[in-house]
Amino acid sequence: MLKVDDVSVSYGKSQVVYNVSFEIKDDEKLILLGRNGVGKTTLLKSIIGLLPAKTGDISLNSDKVTKLKPYERSRKGIAYVPQGREIIPQLTVQENLELGALAHKVDYAKKVEEIFEYFPVLTQHLKRKGGVLSGGQQQQLAIARALMSDPKILILDEPTEGIQPNIVSDIADILTRYHKEKKVPIIVVEQNLRFARKLGDRFLIMQKGSIVAQGQMDELTDEHSKKYMSV
Ligand SMILES: Nc1ncnc2c1ncn2[C@@H]1O[C@H](COP(=O)(O)OP(=O)(O)OP(=O)(O)O)[C@@H](O)[C@H]1O
Ligand SMILES: [Mg+2]
Repeated sequence: MLKVDDVSVSYGKSQVVYNVSFEIKDDEKLILLGRNGVGKTTLLKSIIGLLPAKTGDISLNSDKVTKLKPYERSRKGIAYVPQGREIIPQLTVQENLELGALAHKVDYAKKVEEIFEYFPVLTQHLKRKGGVLSGGQQQQLAIARALMSDPKILILDEPTEGIQPNIVSDIADILTRYHKEKKVPIIVVEQNLRFARKLGDRFLIMQKGSIVAQGQMDELTDEHSKKYMSV
């Protein structure tokens, strides 16, 4: 379980996230919604430690991580797939996956076989450079790389951005299956409502740095989307 308690984040003097609190249990997939610029990525970055929380606390399975550096949080099991899927384009698919295992106590050979069961397409491209793959394949590689660390929570920032619809649907299926089999909670920032509804159990909506609405995924209405989303 991840707990975010009263977290505020600023860039210098400009505050972007205001007193955000929420919890996610191991059996949940949580979708974070909201228009461009409301602070979704900033909130995620404070959870993974790339930005300091000005107030509040973040804990993973009752273990406070608020003061830990990003690599320390990553070793504790917080995995992050950033917006814009930052794989390393000059490295091969295999090398990208090896990097995902590096610094984590996992047996690469064993783990990679497990991950290929979720992302069979990657096995056909192991020796190719990440940069020559299609957008959808790069996103699958980015998620697969994050999963190589055998995380305790998976956090994804707009995984469907610029990806063709059939791959978007595949990614929802893969994440649903992984979640079910590994019992790992997932937080996804998303603007694609179809994907959000397919994947999510619960939603949070942010506006101007605060959480302004939340509920079970089937409680998300057209009113919510008109009021708080760019769709
Ligand atoms: N490095 C930075 N320095 C100063 N301000 C920033 C920085 N990064 C983001 N901001 C500002 O913080 C606010 C929230 O940005 P953030 O990227 O968290 O929004 P977002 O909800 O993820 O938006 P999007 O949907 O476009 O990805 C915006 O007003 C943005 O301009
Ligand atoms: Mg963002």
